[in-house]
Amino acid sequence: MFREKINVTEFRDTPPEYQELVSRLLTIQADCEIGSAHIYGARWLLRAPTADDMYQLSRMISEEIDHFRRFNRVLKEISADGTHLLWKEDSERYLDALKVSELPTWGDVIAFSFLIDRVGKYQLEEFLDSSFLPLNETALLPVVISEEIQHIAYGQGKMMELCGDPKGRVEAQQALNRWYPLALDMFGRSSSRRCWRYLEWGLKRRTNAEARRDYIEEVNPQITAMGLEIPDETAGRKYL
Ligand SMILES: [Fe+2]
Ligand SMILES: [Fe+2]
Repeated sequence: MFREKINVTEFRDTPPEYQELVSRLLTIQADCEIGSAHIYGARWLLRAPTADDMYQLSRMISEEIDHFRRFNRVLKEISADGTHLLWKEDSERYLDALKVSELPTWGDVIAFSFLIDRVGKYQLEEFLDSSFLPLNETALLPVVISEEIQHIAYGQGKMMELCGDPKGRVEAQQALNRWYPLALDMFGRSSSRRCWRYLEWGLKRRTNAEARRDYIEEVNPQITAMGLEIPDETAGRKYL
């Protein structure tokens, strides 16, 4: 495994494969950040059920935009500016979970925070102590990860609240059924060749299959504790 630490000036002299992987990794992350802001904002920004929720949602949207900004700052340093991602069509986002244009119910909003923001946290944790030094700056991962943890906690708390009555529980289960398979898909194919290259170059810590397994182990007991069923992994496909 590659054990060197690369700064921006050294980046130009690294092999093309390394440059391509770093640029791809950061572009996908930036795309997910701004894509989340679009999804949260499209329908619900000023339609959340209470003023507290409206405030929380607008805060999450601004934080996702800021996460984009922080990753794009690094992209610009390696001449791979991702500004065009700001206005991209939803259908052209990199990951299927980010391709939806709006969330049909309030249950979907909070299931998205509970499940999809959590995948975001997993993706970010992959970059900790990576071979590409700009990713290790304090203004990047520690800030972004701590905000994702708050988004997840909000989603989880609201899901539990929604499950407090039978009608809400149905809405929560339906939303979960839509997002759970998409969340698992976000980790990428277990057989992906590129996944091994990321590991080899010290850009990720776990394989796609390992990260997905850890995620399932974390989230499934939380779903069960809410009195909800673990969704069918393939059920949400019809959603898109
Ligand atoms: Fe984010
Ligand atoms: Fe988030």
